[in-house]
Formats: sequence, structure tokens, C-alpha cells
Amino acid sequence: VSLREHNSFGLPAVAQTLVRVRSDADVRRVVDHPELGRAPKLILGGGSNLVLTRDVAAAVLKVEIAGRRLVAETADAWIVEAGAGERWHDFVTWTLEQGLPGLENLALIPGTVGAAPVQNIGAYGVELKDRFHSLDAVDLVTGRSVTLDAGMCRFAYRDSVFKHELAGKSVVTRVRFRLPRPWLPVLGYLDLERKMAETGNTSPDARTIYDWVCAIRRAKLPDPAVIGNAGSFFKNPVVSAEQCRDIIERDPEIVHYPMPDGSVKLAAGWLIDACGWKGKSVGRAGVYERQALVLVNRGGASGAEVVTLARAIQESVYGRFGIRLEPEPVIV
Ligand code: EPU
Repeated sequence: VSLREHNSFGLPAVAQTLVRVRSDADVRRVVDHPELGRAPKLILGGGSNLVLTRDVAAAVLKVEIAGRRLVAETADAWIVEAGAGERWHDFVTWTLEQGLPGLENLALIPGTVGAAPVQNIGAYGVELKDRFHSLDAVDLVTGRSVTLDAGMCRFAYRDSVFKHELAGKSVVTRVRFRLPRPWLPVLGYLDLERKMAETGNTSPDARTIYDWVCAIRRAKLPDPAVIGNAGSFFKNPVVSAEQCRDIIERDPEIVHYPMPDGSVKLAAGWLIDACGWKGKSVGRAGVYERQALVLVNRGGASGAEVVTLARAIQESVYGRFGIRLEPEPVIV
């Protein structure tokens, strides 16, 4: 089975076996299957955070579990649930149409609901973990259904237990979100402050924030349906205050954000841009013209070309700033 249509980078790779799962029972059938049960597994949602560098020997489980509903409404929150196979952005749009605000800052993020907790997606001042309630998963060894709360998911910046101990061992089937009432807008991010200044609207409703986030993303980030990509290719590195002082001394314009624990997060896009990479290519892999943090497939690139470009960027950022950039997508 070709995986080219199943990864947003549009990278060529072939899988021996691709199984579509539409329910928990489908997942259990895979676990009970004499051959599939024992095979290593690659769990695939929208394939928007994946770099395929070779053919896949593991059995690919394509999660297509549907459904979305309001589970509960209390004085201080709405609890909403979606099947892991739902497209994230469509789910966000649906919640707003139902009058359930809280996910608007996360509009237009590619991928599925089931993939969202895996890397704790985040944008414009909100992370999935800030709106997370719990999730259901099926254990790929025992076939048992389990429910995980936020603590068990061990969320961190673009990270969770599903990228570590549970990688390939557990299939997320449904995710529940807790949307706090009363709704409070999150407007601290520079791009949103600019929108407020531009429009003169300083108390936007959730739908307006949703529209702003969509417009900001469309202007900065390439649409994977047009140009293959996996969003930000590197995490924003976190350095100590001391390390940051040295770097600022040499490069006073560096974009940086102080963190609550005293460390400092640096804008990886700025670092890459400062090394002159914006718009450059290595083979058929390139650095997006409008956002240096995004690597793109200029047409027909292989996963190996993307990885070669990524390494070259890492080396030049290390050479100039002494900082090691860590890739954000899962590299297979
Ligand atoms: N910058 C440059 N040159 C560039 C790119 C960025 O100078 O080529 C500067 C910008 O001017 C800005 C700063 O770097 O001052 C940060 O850029 P931006 O606001 O675009 O955000 P980011 O740090 O590049 C992060 C997330 C995005 C998320 C946005 C908005 C990571 C790795 N990326 O990007 O998430 O949408 O903030 O919150 O944390 C993703 O994870 O795939 C992703 C797109």
C-alpha cells in the first residue's frame, strides 16, 4: 500500500499492511489476529506530523473512528468528546457552531483528534493540555480499553507519553475536552494583539478569534494540500537564562520568551532565518519562504532529502548559536 496520500509531506513510502480501524472492536480484532497481533505497529492519524524516510515494515493502523458530542454541561465547564479519526479543524469548527467556545486558538491545525494529544498540539497561547479532560485508548498488547487523565498522558511542550512508553503500544480512540465556563479569551500572543490593533476590536468573541487564527495561519503556513509539509519542523529550544544572556549579547534582536520557571524559549524560526535558510533548498526539500520553521516538499522529495536538509540546518544553527534544534515530527 502506498503511504504517499497518507502523509502531509507527500513522501513516498510503502507499507506491507494498512488496516483501517473504525471502532474499539476493530482495534481489538487487530490485537487478536494471529499475525497482526504480534507485528510492530505504526499508528496513523492524518499523517501530518510524520516524516517517512523508508518503507514501513510495521503494520499501519489508520484510525478512522468517528463521532462528536456534548457529554456533559456543568456550571463551570462543557465536556465535549470526539472520535480519534475526526479531523481536528472540523471538530473545532463544530464546537463553535454548537456555541461551545474554548478551542478557537487551535483552529486550522492539520491532523486528527486522536493525534492531537500525542504531541500536545498548541498555538496562539493555548495547548491541548489546557483544554484536555481525558481520553480512551486500546492497549495493543492486552486489547483492553483504558481511560487516561491528563497526569497519565504526561503532557509537555509538543510531547506526551504516546511519543515514549506508549509509542506504537496504544491506540487513542476518543478524546474528551473540558471547555471552561465562563469562556475567557486568550489574546496574549503577538499576532493576535496585532489583529486587535488592526481591527480596533479589543474584545473579540470566540468566532472572531477563530477567524483571526485561520487568517494568520493561512498567511504564514503552507497548506499541505498544495505544498507538502508537517508544520513546524523543529521545536522552539528552551535555554537557561544565563545561556540566553550570552546569545542576546551577540544577537540583540533574537526573538525569545521568558518561561515561568526562569528558562527562556527561543524562536527556532528566527534562528534558522538568521542563518540564511529561508527560501533555500537541498534537492527537492526546501525551507518555506514565509516561515523558516517549516520545511516543505518542493515536489517529489524523498524523506531522506528532508532529513538531509534538516541536518544541514541543525549544523548551521549549532555552529552559530551553540543550540541543538530538535525535530518536532515523528521520523520513521
Ligand atoms: N520568525 C522569524 N523568521 C521566520 C520565522 C519566525 O524571524 O522565518 C520569528 C517571528 O517573527 C516571530 C517568532 O520568530 O517573532 C515566532 O514565530 P511565530 O509566531 O510564527 O511562531 P513559531 O514559534 O514559529 C510556534 C509553534 C506553531 C504555532 C505558532 C503559534 C512550535 C514549534 N511552533 O511557531 O506550531 O502555530 O507558534 O502559536 O512551537 C506546529 O507545531 O507545527 C506549529 C505550527
